Amino acid sequence: MAPPPAGAGCTGDGDDAPTLEQVLEEKVSAQRALVKRLRGTYGDAVIGTCSVNQAYGGMRGATVMTYETSDVDPYNGVRIRDRPLVDVYRILPRPPGAQHPYAEGMLWLLLTGDIPRASQVAALRERLAARSAVPDGVFRVLDAFPKEAHPMTQLSAALLAMQPQSEQAMSYASGAAMVAARDDALWRRCLTDVLTVIAQQTVVAAYIYRKRKGTLEKTDGGSCGRDLRLDAYMPRLDLAASFARMMGFDDVVTDDLFRMHLCTHMDHGGGSASCLGVRVVGSTLADAFRAWSSAVNGLAGPRHGLANEEVMRFLFRLRDFLDARPASPALLHEFCQSTLRAGAVIPGYGHTTLLATDPRFHMQRAFAKKHMADDELCALVSALFGVVPDILKEQGKIRSPWPNVDAHSGVLLYNRGLTDIQFHTIMFATSRVMGPLANLVWDRALNLAIVRPMSVTTRWVKAHLEGDDDYISPGLP
Ligand code: MLT
Repeated sequence: MAPPPAGAGCTGDGDDAPTLEQVLEEKVSAQRALVKRLRGTYGDAVIGTCSVNQAYGGMRGATVMTYETSDVDPYNGVRIRDRPLVDVYRILPRPPGAQHPYAEGMLWLLLTGDIPRASQVAALRERLAARSAVPDGVFRVLDAFPKEAHPMTQLSAALLAMQPQSEQAMSYASGAAMVAARDDALWRRCLTDVLTVIAQQTVVAAYIYRKRKGTLEKTDGGSCGRDLRLDAYMPRLDLAASFARMMGFDDVVTDDLFRMHLCTHMDHGGGSASCLGVRVVGSTLADAFRAWSSAVNGLAGPRHGLANEEVMRFLFRLRDFLDARPASPALLHEFCQSTLRAGAVIPGYGHTTLLATDPRFHMQRAFAKKHMADDELCALVSALFGVVPDILKEQGKIRSPWPNVDAHSGVLLYNRGLTDIQFHTIMFATSRVMGPLANLVWDRALNLAIVRPMSVTTRWVKAHLEGDDDYISPGLP
């Protein structure tokens, strides 16, 4: 797909462009009216059901909630604000000379549903930069971890150490009317917290990276964290390039890779574990720092974000097995079959919701073809794509034999020198923070209730379906 020229997607510009809050104010009142009408007219209509298999099977496919910022089409992948990611990608503004869009533009779209003007992207960038000064205490918390501690553990702790800055929590503690329905102050404070989390997490992530790599330059015997400030870069550079500079990268291909990485991992429908985590914890009126810290722990699980690390280990084992022999279909077949026979999975393949190759995988593949044509690990990813779906189809155990985003993300980062593969999950987090937290602003704007679905015991399931005279539960139908 040929990228549009720089500035494409900017619908006119000028100082009169409405601010983020002005855009949101208008949208919030329209959406509140729509939700009120839908609930008033169809409040008891059924939009989903739950079978026994779904109740035991992670509620896959059960429609049980609304989520404003994105949803997932099983064949076409994630839709950001009702538009397929590939379409959004075509029209979002991008920095001059860049092939990939501003992450800030995608964030604006997630928050408002609109493609931003260039001046709105610039204003959002300035706001992020202005909120990027991480309190010193956060670096002290990070310094207390051994440098080998998993980066996601460090990140989750750092987010909690950042939490005392929460405007939402401070205002609650000071007795302000936080819980009143229609309280506009609530979503506004949530928005401020969300921007703080996004900006400061970027700095913290760069700090963790450099600490693990041993490239922190301590000044005055103290933490160098205060030198890692987004506002040092963001007057000139966008979020992705600033992040790359803080980590120590300084080339246009890596900047573009970071833009693509940020834009493709931001959101994946409300049912994705990290998005659901934010929804559930945030619904208690815990603030954005706490909600996101909880979700980061979910993203650190091997069935979720950590899967991209597993893909890298799988590729290293495959490379050892090949031992310089060409990756022929027969050898790949042998390696994959022996992995499956040992009871392991082929990481990066299959998805709970997608029933076709993840469009994000195709975008990553195009990037690899353009910038990493000679890369050995990218070539292995491509070769596996040629054989694994058929192997998994033959095996007949998984519903979707296609590659997902994790199958390709790690090798791209690795190629640019990001060889600390545990840090790859933080790269996911640095992007994923934006979708669920943009949606959290909407949860508060729409005054959504605490999440509290009903659960039943296995004994109840048996009694309900087979009759069980001894079973008495007066509360359940
Ligand atoms: C993804 O980005 O693929 C996810 O967060 C996993 C999911 O959708 O459940």
